Amino acid sequence: MALTAKMVVDKDFIISKIDDRMYGSFIEHLGRAVYGGIFEPGHPTADANGFRQDVLELIQKLNVPIIRYPGGNFVSGYDWKDGVGPVSERPRRLDLAWRTVEPNLIGMNEFATWARSAGAEVMWAINLGTQGVEDARQVIEYANHPGGSYWSDLRIQHGYEQPHRIKTWCLGNEMDGPWQIGQKTADEYGRAAAEAAKAMRWVDPDIELVACGSSYLGMPTFAQWEATVLEHTYEHVDYLSLHQYYGNAEQDTATFLARSLQMDQFIDSVTAICDYVKAKKRSKKTMKLSFDEWNVWFHTLESDKQIEPWQVAPAQLEDIYTMEDALVVGCMIISLLKHSDRVGMACMAQLVNVIAPIMTETGGAAWAQTIYYPFMHASLYGRGNALIPLVHSPKYDTKEITDVPYLEAIAVHNEEHNEITIFAVNRHLTDSLSLLMDVRSFGEVALIEHLVMEHEDLKAVNTANLQAVSPHAGGNARVEARSVTASLAAASWNVIRLKIHS
Ligand code: AHR
Repeated sequence: MALTAKMVVDKDFIISKIDDRMYGSFIEHLGRAVYGGIFEPGHPTADANGFRQDVLELIQKLNVPIIRYPGGNFVSGYDWKDGVGPVSERPRRLDLAWRTVEPNLIGMNEFATWARSAGAEVMWAINLGTQGVEDARQVIEYANHPGGSYWSDLRIQHGYEQPHRIKTWCLGNEMDGPWQIGQKTADEYGRAAAEAAKAMRWVDPDIELVACGSSYLGMPTFAQWEATVLEHTYEHVDYLSLHQYYGNAEQDTATFLARSLQMDQFIDSVTAICDYVKAKKRSKKTMKLSFDEWNVWFHTLESDKQIEPWQVAPAQLEDIYTMEDALVVGCMIISLLKHSDRVGMACMAQLVNVIAPIMTETGGAAWAQTIYYPFMHASLYGRGNALIPLVHSPKYDTKEITDVPYLEAIAVHNEEHNEITIFAVNRHLTDSLSLLMDVRSFGEVALIEHLVMEHEDLKAVNTANLQAVSPHAGGNARVEARSVTASLAAASWNVIRLKIHS
């Protein structure tokens, strides 16, 4: 029997207006993300400052509003002062997080200038591993204070008259992780984060602050970590972070595609912990979530162990993504959108070369990986109100995850453009799925396009020379009597765009 699913898309069933920062990204001083990624002096497309314009163009097409920087694990040993001032005087340092040598050719000023050209704000992560409250207040004074004080005048002396006005700041990175330089207990971190937050806000009251949640759901201290950190920081921060990567090392695709259900659960659990602390503190404030590292990451976990240490910008974490990875990324985006009432910001980790949608060859081409496309579609068409997905779908079970709907979907209503976009994944590996969507609350609608990503080989990848996995506009969605029908191909990512007439 043919698989069928139903969905009701109602304009009044609003989850939330989606914060544009949902489509954030991340660049760490890691591998070839900075050196050989965004920055490659001597490359045929490099501008006068050494930034590759071919890479920049691919980034601009993603319409990324915010980029987290400079780490990641790197930041827990990073002295931001090493990255400012005359480049010739900057030190080369050992980066203990990734066992490389950091030449400090790019730092805050260059990155902030470059990010502006990419159309993005910077989300700056401070070092709470080897540094503390003193460096926190110095770095924000350097970045954001207009002038007339030691650190702001130093920025001006370095050639940056205008403050960078960095609004969003992460208070450290994954401080619960034993792999972190300066790992802390929840109490130690909570206290350090609260004190850094106070000092930073005294320098610039307009900032938004993110405290570190657990490094991922599987951490043994998960939940208790969040509760304790928030006990210390609740009134000082605006966001709590979540990080999660999924992989398919077991080659169990049905389970891999279902991982976003665990992401749903993760977000729900962290929301519950935030609300528990809110209740306990009788606070009026509702904590938002910053899912500031998410992606698929597993292809290079083993092979990267062979990398020779203490090189400058070796190829690290250069996962080459498949069609099935793109489907998981699509499902993860839908999970984020379903939680847009609490997830205010999210960063796909990362942006170039390092577990990234964009790859480069040194001296050569830049190209889009499979995962580039669902992210781009969501960033371009997923702005507006996320609508509650009322979905009736047949389900399947895996050994690990049960009740997995074949249809994963959400609709976004862009009132400004009079458009509805439905993002949908058919998780069935061999069968198409007939979808019937009731859109009657919108009145007359017309189909703009039905974009599809599919490939007969779920392990197909893109290369510098061949975009084997890329979207086509040949989807078969039809509008009939205020409903939309479509047959979603097996294992496909779909973007159905509708224009509202009345
Ligand atoms: O994104 C790669 C790494 O994953 C980051 O440096 C760290 O924060 C996380 O563990």
